[in-house]
Amino acid sequence: MNVYEMQQEILRMKKEQDVCILAHSYEAREIAEIADFVGDSYALSVKAAKVPNQTVIMCGVRFMAETVKILSPEKTVYLSNPIAGCPMAEQMDKEMILQVKSQLPDYTVMAYVNTTADLKTIADVCVTSSSAVKIAKALDNDKILFIPDCNLGAFVAKQVPDKTVKLLQGGCPIHAAVRPEEVRAAKAAHPDALVLVHPECVPAVVEQADYVGSTSGIMDYAKASDAKEFIIGTEISIAEHLQYDCPDKMFYPMSKHLICPNMKSTTLVDVYRVLRGEFGEEIVMDEKTIASARRCIDKMIELGG
Ligand code: 13P
Ligand code: SF4
Repeated sequence: MNVYEMQQEILRMKKEQDVCILAHSYEAREIAEIADFVGDSYALSVKAAKVPNQTVIMCGVRFMAETVKILSPEKTVYLSNPIAGCPMAEQMDKEMILQVKSQLPDYTVMAYVNTTADLKTIADVCVTSSSAVKIAKALDNDKILFIPDCNLGAFVAKQVPDKTVKLLQGGCPIHAAVRPEEVRAAKAAHPDALVLVHPECVPAVVEQADYVGSTSGIMDYAKASDAKEFIIGTEISIAEHLQYDCPDKMFYPMSKHLICPNMKSTTLVDVYRVLRGEFGEEIVMDEKTIASARRCIDKMIELGG
């Protein structure tokens, strides 16, 4: 079976079985093509709450499949490849944060959605990269403990100078690995290009950007801009998707290291095999975890919408 034939078979099976396929924008092109919805973490969370189908297959990483299950506990939710985790989501556990919280009792715990369901049970509000600044501004508390990404947290802190934002040492190993010299080299190679950067990158990279925003923010900015060339400072698939969407513009990945091995661990064959009942992992969570983790996700949707 070639790629096209497998895609056709996936489309046929998902219709027959009334399955919805959600994919994060960092997934490969051939997966984005068969998905019912492709988006950034925030858009996927909003969509997850509204999916009409009984079964959802998440092509993304584990915390994204967990978020779907938390928002729609009555649905059957599969993570298409069980090894697709997010190292950032595993960096901090509940006990560690409870200890920090006990020393900062009047702080609101703002958790990036890239956290485990277990950690979400003790967070006050969730955020994604596209909703973090808006939610930080909307909170009535002016003291925020931002977990786990110190780079996104530093970006948020800069946008809300009237609030105190405490950070811990966590972050995305892929985005945080981009070095400021790589940005300078990319700019020297493409002097007319605008630099669009994800806030998971380190401040010395973010400072050199013409635009800083989430995955969807970067895509929307590039599509709407009159500029013709862009250096893309986020996962490499975004440059590829944009190149398809805007063939008259040029998109250059900022670094060849901006490839998330976890997002890329899901293949088209995995999705095919999940639909055949041969692969994937059904997300199972107890009711108590679902109920407590849901509070901070609901709050994110309420304040971030
Ligand atoms: P967004 O989808 O919020 O842009 O986050 C990027 C990311 O790293 C997802 O894991
Ligand atoms: Fe996690 Fe970074 Fe990969 Fe996103 S890009 S899934 S934050 S490791």
